[in-house]
This record gives sequence, C-alpha cells and structure tokens, in this order.
Amino acid sequence: MTSSEFIPFCLPDITDVEIKEVVDTLESGWLAKGPKTIEFEKKFAEYVGAKYAVAMNSCTAALHIALIAADIGPGDEVITTSMTFAASVNTILHVGATPVFVDIDPETGLIDVNKIEEKITEKTKAIVPVHYAGQACDLDKIYELANKYNLFISEDAAHAIYTEYKGKRIGYQPQGTVSYSFYATKNLATGEGGMLVTDNKEIADRARVLITHGMSKNAWNRYGKGGSWMYDIEEPGYKYNMFDIQAALGLSQLERLEEMQNKREDLVELYIKGLSGIKGIEIQKVNDYTTKNAWHLFIVRVTDSFPLNRDELIEYLTKNNIGTSVHFIPVHMMSAYENYRNHNDLANTEQWFTEILSLPLYSTLSLGDVEKVTKVIKEASKGVKINEKSFSDSTPRKTF
Ligand SMILES: Cc1ncc(COP(=O)(O)O)c(C=O)c1O
Repeated sequence: MTSSEFIPFCLPDITDVEIKEVVDTLESGWLAKGPKTIEFEKKFAEYVGAKYAVAMNSCTAALHIALIAADIGPGDEVITTSMTFAASVNTILHVGATPVFVDIDPETGLIDVNKIEEKITEKTKAIVPVHYAGQACDLDKIYELANKYNLFISEDAAHAIYTEYKGKRIGYQPQGTVSYSFYATKNLATGEGGMLVTDNKEIADRARVLITHGMSKNAWNRYGKGGSWMYDIEEPGYKYNMFDIQAALGLSQLERLEEMQNKREDLVELYIKGLSGIKGIEIQKVNDYTTKNAWHLFIVRVTDSFPLNRDELIEYLTKNNIGTSVHFIPVHMMSAYENYRNHNDLANTEQWFTEILSLPLYSTLSLGDVEKVTKVIKEASKGVKINEKSFSDSTPRKTF
C-alpha cells in the first residue's frame, strides 16, 4: 500500500491568534527586546511557578548561560546523558568543562539516576538532566545527590514545557536552573527561542547581563522613554537575548498551550490503542513520577521480534509518505566527542539507539493521520516488500 498524501514528521501550530500578536508587534515600532519579551518572561515564570525567567534566543543559549552563571569551567566535570541533542553537551564543552555520560534506563530512555553517583568525582560540579521526550527525570533523587555533593543542577527541559513531576510543573521552584526550547518543532514554538528559569536572583541577574553583551542592567531600554545612553559592560557577554517578534509568538502560544497539549494527548491515546499488541513494537515506557507528560515526542522501539529492523521500517514508512525521525543519535557516538566516549558504560544508550523511532506527533496532526501511521506499521508487521526486497523474520538486522 502507498498513499500520496505526505504526513510530515512535524509542523508548527500557528493560528490567527499568533498572527495578530506578531502584527501588533510589527506595528508597535518595537522589534528588539522590549515590552513583549518582558511580558513573556513574566507570564512564563508564573506558568511554571519559578521566581525569575530570562528569555533568550535558544535553549542552547540558556544551557550555556546556566553553566557560566554557576561558574562551571575548565577542570570541572558535568554529568549528563548521551541520549540527547548535541546542545546539552556542546554547552558543557563551551565553558571548558568535561562531559561525563551516564547510561539510560532501558525502558524509558531517560538518564538512569541510580548510575549517577558512581560517576561523581571530586571534579564533578554539575548535573544536566534531560527531561527526554517530555518525561520528567527523577528530580528528587537528582537533588538529593546535588545536596550531598554540592552540585549545580541545570535541567534541560527543551522537551518539557507542560511536563509535571509528582504533580508539580517542571520549573517549579528550581534549586538550580531550568532551560526550555521554543525551536520550531517544539510544543511551544517561536521559530527559535529559549527561556532560563530559576529561583536564584543572583543567577537571574547575571544571566540578564550576560545575554546582552554583558551590558549593565536594563541597557536594553536605552532607546526607550526614560532610558539612558550610558551603560557599562560588566563582563564580556553574549548576544543571546530574545526579541519582541519571538516573544509575541511565545505569548500567544503560551495562551494556547493547554489546547494544543489536549490535542497531543488525544493523538497519543490513539497511537497507544493502535500500536499496543503489535509484536515487536514497544512504546516508550512512561515512568511513574511523570504525572503529566508533555509528549514532545512519540517514541517506539522496533525490537528483534518485529520483521523489519528500525531502518527498514523507516524506509517503509517513507515509501508510504510518512515522515519520521530518530531522537537521538547518541552524542558520544559522533565524531566531535570521541574523547569523551565510554562505550562499556553506555550499553543501554547504544542499544536504545538501534531500536528507536519517533512517529509524527503535533497538535495539527489529525486522528486520521495517526490511524494511517498505525495501519502502515501493522501492515509492515506482517512482512512487506521494499524495493523488490522482501523483509521477513529471516532478514539480518542491521547493527550500529
Ligand atoms: C534535549 C534538547 N536540548 C536542547 C536543545 C536545544 O534547543 P534550541 O534549538 O532551542 O537551542 C534541543 C533542541 O532540539 C533538545 O532537543
């Protein structure tokens, strides 16, 4: 079976609400960081339950600034997962510190909190837990280690706007920092964009200065009413600030977040119903303490008992006009990180990678689209032909 209608892996959800807010900004005469960015920061902090929010041009910027503001640098080690996007690790390297990878739980794909302590040395200064795919890491255990060993925690919540850990939103009273992404594919999208939240005033103040070249506080308003031309550079900083057109999108998407998440939940329910019981397809397990899952990604594992391996199933879905992706290629497997590899300790991560497949999931996807995806996977489970080649149980599985 092939169908001509392409189902993309991801699409943003932009309505008249976003368009009106952006047009308002364009007509306001204030395009750079200004009142909309300040309002977005305020509403976002309220939404997640943190004291301070600092809007930036990406989550990468927020992760970088978090480590600088916590004075992490050369000689320090930072513990994280390899089952993440490069940004979580690049930013550790950008401050001159060394990333140390901890293996994942083989059923959820999240950092295995029980394996963190054995990696802590006297050089360890921070942990970057990643709330992968929209599930929460076990924060109680992570903060317990942070208190025991005096470590800084920079949560990577790129996937976790809306996620709740034991009934509290990720970002609620963080002891360290939490960084979110508003990249085009994210649950709340501003094209590019990010937010750092914290309850620590010192970190928030320093972050605000660092993201606008290190300019003294409120220098962004030097061209506004009551602004002053005079500013100082307190330390050489970065150009990482959000600007008002992004914030206009952020404000309207935040307003619509609940509605968009409800749609995601309906789609996920249908995926689970359609895929449960297909031999060899395992849906990513949700841990018990994720009381609300943002479902940024819908990940399945294509295991040995499925007639096609993961790559072959991708090929078959592509042939049927279904876009898919893989989250993630383990960071430690890529060329730039060969000095930080510890294969022996990362067996679950490497195994997970060979099996995972992210299926289309976004609020503008229809229930009919999900039905089509599950139908094609069911069909593949019975043995199918790709490029005149027949895949069956006897097909040798590719290994990484
Ligand atoms: C887990 C994770 N962390 C960080 C980032 C970086 O986000 P941004 O593109 O906003 O810098 C991403 C982006 O996809 C991500 O998936």
